[in-house]
Amino acid sequence: MNPSVNTKKVEGFGLGFRFGLADQMLGAERSAADFVEIAPENYIGVGGRRARLIDAVRERWPIVSHGLCGDFAGGMPFDLDYMRDLRTFLKRIGAQWYSDHLCFTNLRGAEMHELVALPFTDEAVKRAAARIRDVQDFLGMPVAVENVSAYGEMPGAEMTEADFVAEVVRESGGHLLLDVNNVYVNSVNFKFDPRAYIDRLPLDRVLEVHVAGYFQEAPDLLLDTHAMPISDPVYDLFAYAMAKLPHRPPVLLERDGNFPPLAELESELARLDNIAEKVHAAA
Ligand SMILES: [Fe+2]
Repeated sequence: MNPSVNTKKVEGFGLGFRFGLADQMLGAERSAADFVEIAPENYIGVGGRRARLIDAVRERWPIVSHGLCGDFAGGMPFDLDYMRDLRTFLKRIGAQWYSDHLCFTNLRGAEMHELVALPFTDEAVKRAAARIRDVQDFLGMPVAVENVSAYGEMPGAEMTEADFVAEVVRESGGHLLLDVNNVYVNSVNFKFDPRAYIDRLPLDRVLEVHVAGYFQEAPDLLLDTHAMPISDPVYDLFAYAMAKLPHRPPVLLERDGNFPPLAELESELARLDNIAEKVHAAA
């Protein structure tokens, strides 16, 4: 990897840099994305094409680094070798913060490759918050946790999902990556008011916002596939969140499959930008 440090600031409207979009994004003369997001797991410890890709990406965009298997609330000790590699990698790409999901991904040493929702209990709040603090101290940079989509609830809940997310963020002293699509998906799957959910969150702690498209499996079941265009109710909820936020965090469009021509994703970014501008102007 090129040793120079990427100091470009992350702001505005970004797009997930995925292998299925790489040729289109790097081949375009101009980019509508103000920044990109990558999953560090895809680049740490690998050379060849991926090492060249990350060099090309950091030449062009500010990068946010979003983990997939941080096991933020799991019970296994952290893999210290991986954490050291992650810290080095984040430094090299000029990451300004690190984020991962508020869930567990590892069961007794077995990597599940799934984001499994936690029980909404005080004990889980304390464990997740302690681990987030540890990650933040170890990496030496702000850490944000993302609210996840889910299709079943763990038994024994002592609070709502929104209060659980809020408590973890407050108790950890960390930040929130607010995924508006995940809030909407869960509001349909678990029948709650997504706006009331957003109202419960510590919005001053939002470091970044995610939006994506879901797949409607049944009238009362949405799947968070990231393989469809953003739906109208998610645009509406995004506008609501923008109006409630006391600041303007960077917004990332996640598209992980069924990749369209880049222009379609760029028009989704433009629509998000437009919504945020209107909300801002009205305020
Ligand atoms: Fe997300």
